[in-house]
Amino acid sequence: MFQQVQTAPPDSILGLNEAFRNDPNPEKINLSVGVYKDEKGVTPVLKCVKEAEKRLLENENTKSYLPIDGRPGYTKAVRELLFGADHEVLTSNRAVTVQSPGGTGALRVAGDFLADSFPGRALWLSQPTWPNHPNIFTAAGVPLKTYPYFDKATNGLAFDAMMDALKGASKGDIVLLHGCCHNPTGIDPTPEQWKAIGDLIQENELLPLLDFAYQGFGDGLAEDAGGLRELARPGQEMLICSSFSKNFGLYNERVGALTAIAGTEEEAAAVLSQMKKVIRSNYSNPPTHGAAVVETVLTDGSLNTMWEEELAHMRNRINGIRKLFVDKISACGIDQDFSFIQNQKGMFSFSGLNQMQVDQLRNDMSIYIVGSGRINVAGISEANVDRLCEGIKRVIA
Ligand code: LMR
Repeated sequence: MFQQVQTAPPDSILGLNEAFRNDPNPEKINLSVGVYKDEKGVTPVLKCVKEAEKRLLENENTKSYLPIDGRPGYTKAVRELLFGADHEVLTSNRAVTVQSPGGTGALRVAGDFLADSFPGRALWLSQPTWPNHPNIFTAAGVPLKTYPYFDKATNGLAFDAMMDALKGASKGDIVLLHGCCHNPTGIDPTPEQWKAIGDLIQENELLPLLDFAYQGFGDGLAEDAGGLRELARPGQEMLICSSFSKNFGLYNERVGALTAIAGTEEEAAAVLSQMKKVIRSNYSNPPTHGAAVVETVLTDGSLNTMWEEELAHMRNRINGIRKLFVDKISACGIDQDFSFIQNQKGMFSFSGLNQMQVDQLRNDMSIYIVGSGRINVAGISEANVDRLCEGIKRVIA
């Protein structure tokens, strides 16, 4: 039977990571997968995480199953991080959360829930978007449409074109928005633009689905939640997929959550029951460790402060690197204006390099960048920035 099986193409992001690992060049540079690296090129375990793990090791007294929807203390802490403890969606009990294996797991549970409960409804994706979005929702059986997002002429948001496209969405269609630090462009709507998006969603009765994987990597924890808080208007329904891979550095622990906001507490309970049904037939119930770490940190004053400081350090390093990169690019005699890189938010820069240039960088210099031209800024350091700029100069000549 298996002789009929065709080899699948490598994943456009994780496949590059594998190729990087197999590359013998000692000067190779990995700017592909969205993983934070410190000044030494290391992806560290945060101190607050280590401290929480010590406490968990001492106090853990069972390995019995978690509930299908995960740890109650964790899901409550997730909602409070999204909205702040006093927000109406929390006090009215119309928000429910399930723990999930990573943000990807949350997206897949959302996709299965949407396909089960609203078959045939279209999901609108930004063009471009994270390449795994179409994979996940296609696998779940959700039909896809796209809206323009990136304006090449200004290296900014194609806001008018985006709004025009979304005006064509039918009532009940789902719109996937990146909560902050848009992947791959690093371009986010302004507060005014979020307000206009919220108006359109409300007037045309669309369902927003927020992918929120980089909270704290843009301007700060509360600032980065500004868009989703703008959309959470009285009575408005919403889905939010959280990830703690990046802001807690818990990549391999797979910690995420899916939060649904319904119109009423009763409707929220029904939605929760459907999400649990999806989970039971998928992975039964979630693993505990990473979520226990996040819960421990978020519910302890001093660990929480430590986390916010460590997160601010990661954010500030990335912003410093953006400036260094732009300065070095102009210093090495590249005429093309790359200053827009300093306005982009989060881990990624949309460099404007095309597939041919990306291939050339990889083949000639072992510099690994995603095919769309997306660069993981956190992979740049004082040690490799000159070689990177040299490579870019060569391929755009
Ligand atoms: C990325 O976009 O690089 C990250 O979200 C990691 C991944 O799974 O693709």
